[in-house]
Amino acid sequence: MKRNNFWKNKTVLLTGHTGFKGSWLTLILNNLGAKVIGYALNPISKPNFFDGSNLSQFLKKDYRANIKDLKKLKSVIRKGKPSIVFHLAAQSSVLAGYKNPKDTVETNVIGTVNVLEAIRSCNAVKSAVIVTTDKVYLNLEKKIKFKETAALGGHDIYSSSKAVCEILTASYIKSFYLKLNNCKIATARSGNCIGGGDWTKDRIIKDCVESFLFNKNLIIRSPKASRPWQHVMEPLFGYLKLAQKLYFDNNKKFVGCWNFGPNVKNNLKVIDVAKLGKKILNSKSKILKTKKIYYESEHLSLDSRKSLKFLNWKISLTAKEALKLTFEWYKFYYNRTSRDKIVNFTFNQINYYKKKFGIS
Ligand SMILES: NC(=O)c1ccc[n+]([C@@H]2O[C@H](COP(=O)([O-])OP(=O)(O)OC[C@H]3O[C@@H](n4cnc5c(N)ncnc54)[C@H](O)[C@@H]3O)[C@@H](O)[C@H]2O)c1
Repeated sequence: MKRNNFWKNKTVLLTGHTGFKGSWLTLILNNLGAKVIGYALNPISKPNFFDGSNLSQFLKKDYRANIKDLKKLKSVIRKGKPSIVFHLAAQSSVLAGYKNPKDTVETNVIGTVNVLEAIRSCNAVKSAVIVTTDKVYLNLEKKIKFKETAALGGHDIYSSSKAVCEILTASYIKSFYLKLNNCKIATARSGNCIGGGDWTKDRIIKDCVESFLFNKNLIIRSPKASRPWQHVMEPLFGYLKLAQKLYFDNNKKFVGCWNFGPNVKNNLKVIDVAKLGKKILNSKSKILKTKKIYYESEHLSLDSRKSLKFLNWKISLTAKEALKLTFEWYKFYYNRTSRDKIVNFTFNQINYYKKKFGIS
């Protein structure tokens, strides 16, 4: 097993640290010895993992500010001098994108431009990962696996806003970053993530947990939609590998876009995920189906062979293992006697994953 000392004492700026993935990345970076500066709005969901479990204690600085505020972002980056940046802050929900299209575009597109501008104003930054999504591709429902070279598209506002982030980042790289040698940038596209601590509205795992643990009926949209389920730690460890490679890279081969999707055999239908959750949480709730209101892609698979070949990144958990870790997390959280130990429980899951991933 390899020891990863790279992150020890590295200063990292993490935008979106108060969100689902950001909370996990805060703890993982802390576990690896990095000093993390967080920049995000307050968490929206109630409950939420970040404030609810006081994850602020694992940060060097915890800024609560808008990503649309370029002046603030620049001052934070100049003061903190991070050598690595992870940009996760976003309006991250497809359904919220339909409800608030303008805000989604502004947060995601202007937010990303601001991060790229802020990095440009600080020589300390050596590598940056801009997180988009698997939904950036033009999906004609032909059940193909999308390679990084596939055409970009985006049917809904969230997806198209993220596709715009991809185009803008590529353009910033060509226009500025390839000329300046100090910072190398990549974008990362991953599938729907699961894991403890996600109370975002309209997410299937949260809906399963809240129904199954409290014996309420579960209503699901698109039960037959086949999704590439992956535990949140899978892409996060991919982003870490990518950032590390960019940091040392001299020939710029890691600059560009990267898929971090699960294997096709990790695809499961929404209905099967719900049934598995019901079994793990030992529930008697009924699973009811409803019509979807808005368009959501039925099939979405990524081809991640580039990440396997050049980053030696691969999925370490089966879909069932990922779901088990996730449902067990919520079971532990909702048990009144153990809730205050949820951070330790999460660190145990991180250490378990590190072993599977092959690092100590
Ligand atoms: N969760 C998934 O399944 C998934 C899948 C693919 C890609 N992604 C992407 O990963 C990133 C993180 O996703 P998540 O699930 O943790 O989302 P989340 O909604 O849980 O968290 C979003 C974070 O962004 C911050 N944020 C939102 N608007 C902001 C603003 N105007 N200014 C500053 N901060 C703002 C929030 O405060 C929060 O910290 C997003 O970019 C998302 O698009 C998520």
